[in-house]
This record gives sequence, structure tokens and C-alpha cells, in this order.
Amino acid sequence: MENNRAQWGSKLGFILAAAGSAVGLGNIWKFPGKAFEGGGGAFLLMYLLIVPLIGMPCMMSELAIGRAAQSNVVDSFGRLGHKGYAWTGWVGWAVAFIITCYYSHVGGWVLRYTVSYAMESGKVYADPLGYFYNMLGYDAAAGSTFIPWPVLIFATLFMAVCCFIIIKGVEGGIERFNKIGMPALFVILVVLLIRAATLPGAAPGLKYMLSIDASKVTPQTFLIALSQAFYSLSLGMAIMITYGSYLPKTENIARNTFMVCTMDTLVAVIAGFMVIPAVFATLGPEGVGKGGGFAFVSLAGVFQQMPGGAFFGFLFYLLLLFAALTSTISLIEGIVAFLIERKGWKRTPTTIAVGLIMFLIGCLYTCSQAALPIKGIWFDFKNGITYPAFCDAMEFLTDRIMIPVCALGCCLFAGWSWTPENVCKEIEQGGIRFGLVKLYSFLIKFVAPAAIIVILAVSLFTGTTLS
Ligand code: TRP
Repeated sequence: MENNRAQWGSKLGFILAAAGSAVGLGNIWKFPGKAFEGGGGAFLLMYLLIVPLIGMPCMMSELAIGRAAQSNVVDSFGRLGHKGYAWTGWVGWAVAFIITCYYSHVGGWVLRYTVSYAMESGKVYADPLGYFYNMLGYDAAAGSTFIPWPVLIFATLFMAVCCFIIIKGVEGGIERFNKIGMPALFVILVVLLIRAATLPGAAPGLKYMLSIDASKVTPQTFLIALSQAFYSLSLGMAIMITYGSYLPKTENIARNTFMVCTMDTLVAVIAGFMVIPAVFATLGPEGVGKGGGFAFVSLAGVFQQMPGGAFFGFLFYLLLLFAALTSTISLIEGIVAFLIERKGWKRTPTTIAVGLIMFLIGCLYTCSQAALPIKGIWFDFKNGITYPAFCDAMEFLTDRIMIPVCALGCCLFAGWSWTPENVCKEIEQGGIRFGLVKLYSFLIKFVAPAAIIVILAVSLFTGTTLS
């Protein structure tokens, strides 16, 4: 075993890094849209059950695997005596790769909006949807499309900053930023939540989030909620195993897991209760079907009706930008750390090469939103072969297939091959008592794998709602 692996500088360092990875665009950009798609209250209820029953045991397992193996996402399984699970690590690695391609671009969109609120909030307010479309290369008034150069430049900047930070290894700075940035994001979310919830016309949105429509309690909703939970908790693999391997033996994995999952879920739920009522109030229920533009389009109405709105808008996107930055860095770190360790490549050229490739693939993501008719390919038994927009295909592939497959491998490994006894032994290192051994074993052996198998079957056989 190597003893020279890096370790987190401080007790808080790990929690902040893990929370920084978890709290990201997934919480604020994806969660509200999924919650709407999944029927509001029905989705919320499922999500709040999934996090403790499936998310927490999975995160705990990943951290324990990483810390016990002291290795990267692919080799960890072999180190613990089960080389046959290397595929799980490869899938996880690929997930991180694909996600980063588009994540860094959405980071660019956020950067664009940060600048927009600083310079031209009036233009955003005048036509929130048009502004968003225009950013992505679609002129709704003229019905014409164009290559969205400005936003591609913002995405280039965002990716360049991420790569720069990874090359310089200024994690210390990020840790320090997180200490202020995370609580600040939280406070501003609460302020916006109050403003959004009290907008005229927000009540139906609140009602939507709080009432459970029984017809929405379907396997489809469950599929969306489960994949969103994995995504939001950064349980796509490359991250938590890598992070676990940097964790000192004296740290309490169970408590850290609980804290990270709670923080992440809290941010997501607050974002949901802020964005959905805002959409109802500003775009009306008919504006709700507008998909991924949620966090960008709907909030304009909230800021417009706030004293100092442009400033709050600027601050909000700035904090979202940092949340996106810490998540992107964790994603790239997972990919780069593996290549360096496995292939013996150098940090700087590896980061630049990987960053460049991911950025270029990401261009297809941004351009296929509206500007260019780039298609992906998709298959399920209900609809056969379909050709969704490239950007949608990318997200379907990771969220609905690869992340669950990877999480399944991880559950089977922890539950049946390496065994829960070993996971718990790892958790109890350094004299910590873990009181939930039986519950954990049951969840990781039966509940989590069964749930994942069900959702994989649902997405394969009944198809997904392709828009
Ligand atoms: N969890 C992050 C978010 O909510 C995204 C993310 C970071 C992620 N690292 C990951 C998702 C690893 C899957 C795997 O935005």
C-alpha cells in the first residue's frame, strides 16, 4: 500500500470538499426541473426517502472502499481482492468524463448570467426567455438560429479557470472559499426563497410542491428521483472513492456522510421551493414546460421584483458559479488523478489535454441546445431507436444508465463481495463506534440494489420521456 497519498488538511477540509463536490448545478439547475417533471410533491417525497435509504449507504460504502484500498476508482476493487469489479470503476470514470463535458459548459452559462446581471439586468428582465434562447443561439422573434459564440467563450473561460486551479493545486484556496461561499450561498437561497414564495401568483407553485398527485407516483418518477439523488450526491463513483482514499483513518465516515448528504439535500429542496413557485408566478404554468432553462429564465421575475434585484441576481449567479466550480474541479480531479496514477502521466499536460477534449465535446452540448440540429442516439424497448438532441442524449446516458449501473456495481461489491462486515470495520477504524451495522447491511445488500435494478429495467423497457 502506498503511504504517501495526500490527505485532507483539516477536519473541515474533507467535509467542505465533499460538500463542494455535491452541492453544484445538480441542486439548483437540475433539481427543480426534475421535481416539476416528477409531479412536485410526489417527487419530493420519494427524493427524501431515497437519500437516507439509498444515498447514504452508498456514499458510506464508496468512502470506506476508497479509504481501505488507498487507491483510485478503478484499482481500488482489485486492492480489496476483487479485480472483477474494475468495470464498475471504468464506468464511474466515464461518467465523470461525460458529465464534465457538459457541466463545464453550463458553468459557462452561469458565468454569462453573472456578467449579465452585473451589466445588463434590464435586458434580462425585458424578455427572460428570449434572453436565454438568444444566449444559446436561437432568435425566437425571427425564428432563426446561429452559433452562440459569446457563450462558448464564457465556457472556455470557465474551463480554463478550473484547469488552472487543478494544475496549481490550490485546494487550500478552495477550502477557504468554501468556508465562506457555502454559508453565503445558503443565506442567499433562503432570501430568494422568501421572495419567490411571496410573489403574487406563487401560491399554485407552492401547492404543486406540497401536494402529492397519486397519478405521479410511478416507476418513472422513482427513476428520475433516484438518478437525481445519485447525481446530486456525486455518487457517480470517480469522486467519493478518490476522496475516501485521502481521508485520515481517524475520521468518522458515517457522520461525515450524514452531514454531506443533509447539506446537499437541504440546498436542493430550498432551490426547488424557490424556483418552482417563481416559474408559476413569472412564466405561468404554461411556461413551466421550458425544461433546462429553469434556473436561468424563471428567476429573472424574482430579481426584477426585489429591491436591489440586479445586485442579488449578480450575487446569486456568482455563488452558483463557485458551487459549479468546486463540483467541476472535483469531477476533473477524479479523472486526472486516475490518469496520473495509472498511466504515470504528468499533471499539467494531462489536465490541459483532458480539459481541452472535454471542452470540445461540450461545444456539441451547447450547440445542440438550439443552434445546430446535432442528434444523439437512444434505445429502449418501447420506442425502439430514437434520435434525441445530442445534449439530451448525453444526460440520459449518464443519469439514467451509467450512474445507476455504476452504483449497482458498488452496492454489489460492498454488500456481497467485500461484505458489509469489512465496510463497517473500515468505518470503525480509529475507535469510532458505528451503531447501525444491521440497518446498513440490510440496505446495501437488498434495498439499494433492488431499487437500482428496478429503475434500470424501467428505463430500458418503458422508455423515458424524451423531449
Ligand atoms: N453533485 C454535483 C452536483 O450536484 C455534480 C457532480 C460532481 C457529480 N461530481 C460528480 C455527479 C460525480 C456525479 C459524479 O451538481
